[in-house]
Amino acid sequence: MNIQEEIRALKKERNALILAHYYVPAPVQEIADVVGDSFALSQKAADTDAEVLVFAGVSFMGESAKILSPDKTVLLPDAGADCPMAHMATEENIRKLRDQYPDLAVVCYINSTARLKALSDVCVTSSNAVKIVRALPNRNIYFIPDRNLGQYVAGQVPEKNIILNDGYCPIHHSLMPELLLAAKEAHPEAQVLMHPECPPETLRLADYVGSTAGILTHARLSSHEEFLVATEEGVLWQLCRENPGKHFYTPTEDFCCPGMKLVTLEKVRNVLKYNTNPVEIEEPLRLAALRPLERMLRLAAQGRES
Ligand code: 13P
Ligand code: SF4
Repeated sequence: MNIQEEIRALKKERNALILAHYYVPAPVQEIADVVGDSFALSQKAADTDAEVLVFAGVSFMGESAKILSPDKTVLLPDAGADCPMAHMATEENIRKLRDQYPDLAVVCYINSTARLKALSDVCVTSSNAVKIVRALPNRNIYFIPDRNLGQYVAGQVPEKNIILNDGYCPIHHSLMPELLLAAKEAHPEAQVLMHPECPPETLRLADYVGSTAGILTHARLSSHEEFLVATEEGVLWQLCRENPGKHFYTPTEDFCCPGMKLVTLEKVRNVLKYNTNPVEIEEPLRLAALRPLERMLRLAAQGRES
């Protein structure tokens, strides 16, 4: 039996579902039951009959799945696969700003620890942040942890006072305008598709800004044939698969998330076989973090709260 057959047999035996983010290596995306962006994956984690979820992604993703589905076993192929940005906000700053602005809403990008979620009013992902911030009744918003996504949302929702926090994704944040301009020079016909975690000076050069799922939809519907894709390179595998006649390039060779690349087929097989790396969250913390996640799912589905 090869490793793919072994994983399929284990999945059946354990009534397991493999959820994979677009950034994990292609062989893992290929074996997954669901491949998606952070939002689609959290929706799936909240709504499945599987008993075991293998979360092929970084740890905040597995944590969110466990928060939403506490009765399921959630396994992380690599427990050390982390997103550095998930830790880049402090309880102290949240408390300070809550004292300063009585109507403050703390809006927490899903790329954050369970602890940060628990201190927040609502979660968002890159695909629904604009819609959710717009739907909140609060004027003052503290957007954590990502400064760049916060600034992008502020530009789209000018009626709100959005207070930014100093977090960032080390990969997307490194895309300086000069790098993108050089890539545009090398591919002058290419449309530029960019993730909102990129810095604002670079974002201004984009033809389209959106989540990984948004980028995939845009490329599929576009009549253009060449694209410069300014997000983690794992997305290119899906883009090429879905659009055989089109050409995709990354702006730099090393646009690569080290945490996501720790997820391998061998590790997926091992956690299914030995039941290792289960995500555990203490119940009071889980319940506190569940509230903003459920509010996100509700607001993303409905729009404005009544
Ligand atoms: P998505 O919201 O597009 O899934 O992005 C997640 C992420 O980690 C981006 O760096
Ligand atoms: Fe975190 Fe950046 Fe990796 Fe996304 S690409 S998981 S934000 S480090």
